[in-house]
Order: sequence, then C-alpha cells, then structure tokens
Amino acid sequence: MTNGPESSNAGNEVSEAQIAVHWREEEYIQPPASFVAQANASDPAIFERFSEDKFPECFTEYADLLTWDERWHTTLDTSNPPFWNWFVGGRLNASYNCVDRHAEANPDKTAVIWVPELETDEHVHISYGELYRKVNEFAALLRDFAGLKAGDRVTLHMPMVPELPVTMLACARLGVVHSQVFGGFSGNACGTRIADSGSRILITMDGYYRAGDLIDHKVKADEALEEAARQGQEVDKVLVWRRHAGQYASETPMRDGRDYFVDEVLTQYAGATVAPVSMASEDPLFLMYTSGTTGRPKGAQHSTGGYLSYVAGTSKYYQDIHPDDVYWCMADIGWITGHSYIVYGPLALGTTTVIYEGTPNYPDAGRPWRIAEKLGVNIFHTSPTSIRMLRKVGPEEPKKYNYHFKHMTTVGEPIEPEVWRWYHSEVGKGEAAIVDTWWQTETGGFLGSTLPALQPMKAGSCGPGVLGIYPAIYDEDGNDVPAGSGRAGNICIRNPWPGVMQTIWGQPDRFIDVYYRKYNRDPESKDWRDWPYFAGDGALQAADGYIRILGRVDDVINVAGHRLGTKELESAALTVPEVAEAAAVPVIDDIRGRIVEMYVSLKPGIDPAGMDAKVSHAIEVEIGKIARPKNVWIVADMPKTRSGKIMRRVIASVSNFADVGDVTTLANPEVVETIRHHVQSAKVARGELPRELSEAEYEEIAKYGSAE
Ligand code: PRX
Repeated sequence: MTNGPESSNAGNEVSEAQIAVHWREEEYIQPPASFVAQANASDPAIFERFSEDKFPECFTEYADLLTWDERWHTTLDTSNPPFWNWFVGGRLNASYNCVDRHAEANPDKTAVIWVPELETDEHVHISYGELYRKVNEFAALLRDFAGLKAGDRVTLHMPMVPELPVTMLACARLGVVHSQVFGGFSGNACGTRIADSGSRILITMDGYYRAGDLIDHKVKADEALEEAARQGQEVDKVLVWRRHAGQYASETPMRDGRDYFVDEVLTQYAGATVAPVSMASEDPLFLMYTSGTTGRPKGAQHSTGGYLSYVAGTSKYYQDIHPDDVYWCMADIGWITGHSYIVYGPLALGTTTVIYEGTPNYPDAGRPWRIAEKLGVNIFHTSPTSIRMLRKVGPEEPKKYNYHFKHMTTVGEPIEPEVWRWYHSEVGKGEAAIVDTWWQTETGGFLGSTLPALQPMKAGSCGPGVLGIYPAIYDEDGNDVPAGSGRAGNICIRNPWPGVMQTIWGQPDRFIDVYYRKYNRDPESKDWRDWPYFAGDGALQAADGYIRILGRVDDVINVAGHRLGTKELESAALTVPEVAEAAAVPVIDDIRGRIVEMYVSLKPGIDPAGMDAKVSHAIEVEIGKIARPKNVWIVADMPKTRSGKIMRRVIASVSNFADVGDVTTLANPEVVETIRHHVQSAKVARGELPRELSEAEYEEIAKYGSAE
C-alpha cells in the first residue's frame, strides 16, 4: 500500500497491541513423504509427551540425550524467580558431550568440515578423534600457559575457522566461560565486551579471508585492549591463532610478553590430555552479547546443562539431525545461531557440521550450491538476507548443481512469502521440509517453528510454539490477543525452558526489567506462571495457532538478522566531536530487511563538508562495518517535541518515503518539510527509490521510537 492506514496519524497513541494487520493467509505446504519417512519426530505422540501438564518433566527427554556425570534431582527450581535453574544437582561437561563420547565410539567419523573461502584451497576434514586431540591440547595450553580455571571469563574474537569451535570446546572442557565476539565487530566493540565480562585473556586470529581478501584481524586486538583498558580492564595475554601456521598475516607487531602465536606455544602441549571438569548443570557455559535499548551491551549468560540439553533436543527434532547427516548452517559462529546450531547442538548429536569461512556469493552466487554438491550437504540453514541476496544475484544457480536437501531452515528475520517460495522451489528443489525458526540470543534455542514431519509449512509464518514452549500474545494491559483476531500484540512465552539465559552478566536488575517486569503478575510469586517472558517482538497468531513475527517493538534495528541498538549507533555518532545530536532510524531494504540511516545535527559554526563520512567512520570504529549507515543526513535541526525529544518516527517516515503523520504538535514543525525535501530529493537522485511498504512495515515506521 502507498497510503498509510488511518491510525498512522495517531502515531504515539497507537500501541503495538492495537494494530490490526491484514495479511493474506498462505496455503499449507506438506513436507515431502521421503522426509517424513526418515524424520526423528514422526509420531504425533510427541505432542502428548510435551503437553503443558507434562511440564517441566517433559524436558528430561532432551537432557537424556546427554551423558551426565551425575543425574539431577530437581528438573526445574523456581525458588528465585525469574532466575530459573534446570536439572539441579546434575553434573556434566559440555566438551565431553560434544567430543569425547563420539571420539570414543567413532574416532574416524568427521566432526567438522571446514571450507576455506578461496575455492582453490581444499576443504579440511576433522574427525572426532582429531577434534579430541586439538581440544585437549588447547585446553592444556589455556590451563597451564594462560592460567585459566573454571568460572573465569575469556573473550574470543575469531573468524569462521575450525580453531573457533576448538577454542570454545577447550574452554568448556575447563569450565571457562567463553564470550565470542562476532569477528566483524570492531576492536572497540570487542574491548567493551572484554571489559564488561572481566576477561584477562583475549583469543584472536591474525587474519582471515573475506570476499577474496586476506583481512588483517590482529589489528583489532590492539584496539580492543586499549578500549578495555580505558574501561578499567587489563588483559594479560593475547593468544593469536594463525590463519596459515608459521606465517603471520597481519601488519600489526606482536607485543613482547603479551602476544603469543598459538601454534608456537601449542608445540609444548603436543599429545596433552585434560580431564573434562565436571560442572554443575547451572554453571555458565558462555556469554553472548547482544544489543538492547540502552548503549551498554547485554551479556546473555547461558547455562551448561539446560542450554546443552535444549540445543541437543531442538537440533534432533527441529533440525532433524541424524549422526550420518552432513549439516551446514551458513550463520557465523559469532552469533547465537552459530553457537547453538553449528557447534553445540550438532556436535552434541555427533553429526558432521560444515563451517564455511567466507561470504556466500564469493566468488559467485553458485558457491553455496557447489559446496553443498561437493560435500553432500543434506541439511541447510541460513537467513532471509542470504536467501534474498542469492535470489537476486543468482536465481538460476541452484538448479545447475546436483545436491539434495532434505531439510532447510530460515532464521533471524521475517521472511517474505515470495522469498520463502523461491527458497522452497529453487534452493530446496521442492524436496526439502522447511522450518522458519523464531528465537533470540537470549533464548538459547528455538521458540517458534513447525515440527517438520508433523506440522505443515506456511510461508511467512514460523508456526506454533515448539515442543514445551507455550507462547501467548498480550496487549499492553496483559490481556490475551486471541488467535485469529487479526490483531498484533507482544509475544511472550508463558513458561521457562531449559535454553533460556540465566541472567544478563553483571546486570541482574536489567534482566528482570527488560524480560519479566512488563507482564509479571506478582513480584513475590514463586510460581513460574506469574512470570511470562517478554520477547520484545510484535506478533500475531492465525486461527490455527501459527505465529507471524512482525519485528522488534524496542529500539533495536535488525540489519540482515543482526541486532543493532539505536542508542549504540547514536552514541557512536556522538564520538565525533563536531556532532551535537544524532538519531538512528531503520530503512526498509529489499535484501537486508532493515538498514540504518543516521540523522545528525552539528555544533554551531561547523562546516558540514565531509561530516557524513566522519560519522560513518565513527560507527565502523565503534561497532563494525555491519552497522555502517546507508546514508548520514546532516540536518540543521531535528524535529522535536516541546519537551525536546527527537521525533524518530518523523525522520524514519521521511527516510522510507512514508507519510510523516501529524507534526503540528512539534516544537518546530517547519523543519520537517525542509528535511523531507533535502533527504528525498537526494535519495531520488541516487536512485534509492522507494518501494511499496506493506501495512506492517508502514506501521513499524510510523511508530518508530514512540515506545521510549
Ligand atoms: O525480531 C526477532 C528476529 O530476530 C530477533 C532476535 O535476534 P538475535 O538475538 O540476533 O537472534 C537471531 C537468531 C536467533 C528476534 O527478536 N527473528 C529471529 N528469528 C526470526 C525473527 N523474526 C522473524 N522470523 C524469524 N524466524
């Protein structure tokens, strides 16, 4: 539609819960019979086993996929809500579960296939036996050379190389809490996370390949340490893996007494073994930082027993992983998807997981399909952004290659039904069951999805809550928005589950405030029923219970499936001394879902020439290239309310060529037309022409920032 719905004029007064969204109901699509015949979950009795009256004991089915040193005595401890503890009394080691037990049973079986980005380089097979050796040797180094012990935190800033899971599993072997920062994040972003987690050791790599170039990555370690020191955290040692052993890929000097090449130090630990440390189920396994409404990143703390059970169980039933599958998830291990569904889930099940170093369209859009053909990949997992991009640049590519997927996943953002259909018919050749899995960094594993052999697919909907997850959609007052009403609300999960984060590292009050305060019925209650989990997504449910996720209701912009906080972007822009005010808004993008645009006003007397590039650069330095804005608009004045608040919904509407709504109540309504003219004529001149927005997109823009 090109005109806004009537409600858009009301702007501030319309809550997410009141939006009526009319989307065309899509047809059911049944999974292929060949898939159903071999699926891990093909007996509908499974729904009975996970019905609400079986909660929380139903989840022992997931925990039983693991090998425990000691069995738990309490499945769910709710004595300190909302800090739930799962499988209390149980002890286990994640590294043992992902490595040792498979190495004992099947040492020659391939655990990891690593595909370097350069197509001329051979891919690398690592068997479970070799993985065992590598993990043990590196664990010995971490313990004896780096002095790490259970409970310490260590920051990893690594690219997509097999040394990354080796590092994670070596930490897990010792009970050391790893915090892997996405390799594409800047040195400063890494430094902030080092400081927040209190890491004394940074593990990084000298370089890696991206779009054909060998990127200097070690340089970011020096920036990270400087930033961490500024924030009061000293780092003793930097352990540098080398992309080509014995050859240094970075221009940055190694600092004597601080920086060490891992391959050199490792020679002292050849053949070393380290007994896996038996951890309590509720001991933390890792931190994964994510963005929220305020600038300080949130370190989602995930547990050992609950998390590992949950990702093993969902990998088995929702990813349909069998030990003899070749499974490829194209996400980055630096995000939660990679932790749960490249490393921990697949390896806990003893399957073969593929790790690809580079970009999907390097050197061309046929690359993923050549990899799939060559390696015999039969389960494929990626994001709508990658699917849109591959569809745009290589719509005919998949049919040129002889691969066969039985199962495919889409994750991270809402997927448009047309894009879903291309994925189904062209990438999947009509032979694959698809799951659209909705979940979050905080949730450890899937929340919404169809169970692939037992529930039909519906393009654009993730499906109902997964096994043992009971979602509800609430309006602002906590009333149920009924399924089939065509109205959206805030999606919540009514019950705890084993994969949910335990807390935000060092910010327990924020944990309660952000995720549980809104719909808590009684702060004193010890009953989990009084503590619904608030996901921060707008959603609506069709009459059949299938959920359609609309997007974030907070100040988070989802760029290509990656969460960027508005405040983080704005504070990055404000590091430029000439900038007086900054506002970040989302722009609907055909490939990346949303992209960022910045509006900036300058201090008096500053020449605007070159300031846009300076702001872009500051964002790259503070956050990383992924956050680079599409445009930085320098404006004389921001549209503001009489109390001085920047009206982000007005500039977001300008950037998206949407109706700016009622601006008469602003303190300075006259600036809106000046900004609109300036921005939109520049966009037209650059060929950044608007496309029609859907009703839900229109609403998102018209309300953007009004939740503050
Ligand atoms: O808005 C939802 C969107 O991504 C957010 C979570 O982002 P992150 O923590 O980075 O984790 C991404 C990978 C799990 C959610 O709040 N999102 C995630 N999956 C979907 C989705 N939106 C629609 N459909 C999905 N399948």
